[in-house]
Amino acid sequence: MRIEPAVSIVGHVSVPGDKSISHRAVLLGAIVEGETTVAGFGRSGDTEATLRAVRSLGAEVAEDEVDLVRVQGRGLHGLQEPGSPIDCGNAGTLLRLLAGILAGQEGRFELTGDESLLGRPVDRVAEPLERMGAKLETADGRPPLVIEGRRLHGVKYELPVASAQVKSCVLLAGLLAEGETTVVEPFPTRDHTELLLEQAGAPVRRGPGRVTIASAERLELERVDVPGDFSAAAPLIVAATLLPGSQLTVHGVGINPTRTGLLDVLTRMGARIAVFNRRRLGREPVGDIEVLSSELTATDIEPEEVPRLIDELPLFALAAAGARGESRVRGARELREKETDRIETVASSLRALGGRASATEDGFRVRGVPARPKGGRMGSGGDHRIAILGAVAGLVSREGVEVGGAEAAAISFPGLFDLLDSVTRR
Ligand code: S3P
Repeated sequence: MRIEPAVSIVGHVSVPGDKSISHRAVLLGAIVEGETTVAGFGRSGDTEATLRAVRSLGAEVAEDEVDLVRVQGRGLHGLQEPGSPIDCGNAGTLLRLLAGILAGQEGRFELTGDESLLGRPVDRVAEPLERMGAKLETADGRPPLVIEGRRLHGVKYELPVASAQVKSCVLLAGLLAEGETTVVEPFPTRDHTELLLEQAGAPVRRGPGRVTIASAERLELERVDVPGDFSAAAPLIVAATLLPGSQLTVHGVGINPTRTGLLDVLTRMGARIAVFNRRRLGREPVGDIEVLSSELTATDIEPEEVPRLIDELPLFALAAAGARGESRVRGARELREKETDRIETVASSLRALGGRASATEDGFRVRGVPARPKGGRMGSGGDHRIAILGAVAGLVSREGVEVGGAEAAAISFPGLFDLLDSVTRR
């Protein structure tokens, strides 16, 4: 797909429901009592895999509207063994969270996925689950993951890397285990699982850098209102910042502070971003984000900041390419374990478009110039965040960008190109 340069981004938009929360609402909906309505469900390739997964485990799902689904809960230990492997598609969050739930169910379950997912690590969830008493098999630390579910016992687990997926996996297993389970994290990561568990009535205790959960008798969610996905708002925010004359408002976006690191980083680079109309949707903070274009100066991102913008680092790199001076990201080795090795794919994409970027062991450096990048050709490698990077790069470029595999954007954001068109001035 070819993305032509834009003059500016002007208008008011809303974005699809948060992908992380949508996965969690459906998964938890399958193990609580009664019906859970998920309103504002963020429909995408990844979250559709979650609907299929819970259906294959015996939970009925009604899809009333594109963004409104109802899940019939089967209770904490009520999931059924499906006759065949569960295909998690491209969705690492689904595979890792579901592993925690299935480890405490009776039966044998096999979790598999597409080529990209089969190359990603699952030993990071297998290890704590084994400590809790589960029996698991991996293919050398990667999927397929075979789980023989059984009665688990609580553990105290210190996460070796800051990962919300691993934290959530252990907490969900802890919900089904005897005794208490505590997860200690090196840096704060997204806490959507904790907030939903609290809403469902689970005994969750939170302290600085740690979460404890005990087994619960009976949980109910009833209704989850999903805020707009900050990670889907991010490409619009970066495009509007970089394109002179832009004025954009994204309404109803989740602004959970564990997710909005990009706003802090852009603001310290000189971006003009304001959040209005702050409110809560369930337990999640939500707001309207207004962005005016502005010139940027370089900044460094340190390890403790990384989890708060892990999925936005490719877009940060593009912003850094248009900023005055050299920017650096450290402590982001995790990017190498995403849908592609995002340290390499980000640096090589920027270079292909005329930028100056280099990969380092645990991040990248970008030497920015306050001018549009030339443009050119790049490939997504099947990675949605890289396809989205290409879309924004095309808008802010001088000559346009040809993005190979642009359709990968639909893994998290199916309507991206139409939404961008609706606010782009050419
Ligand atoms: C996610 C957590 C992050 C993030 C992913 C979604 C989640 O992964 O990159 O896109 O929903 O928990 P890690 O927790 O493995 O860093």
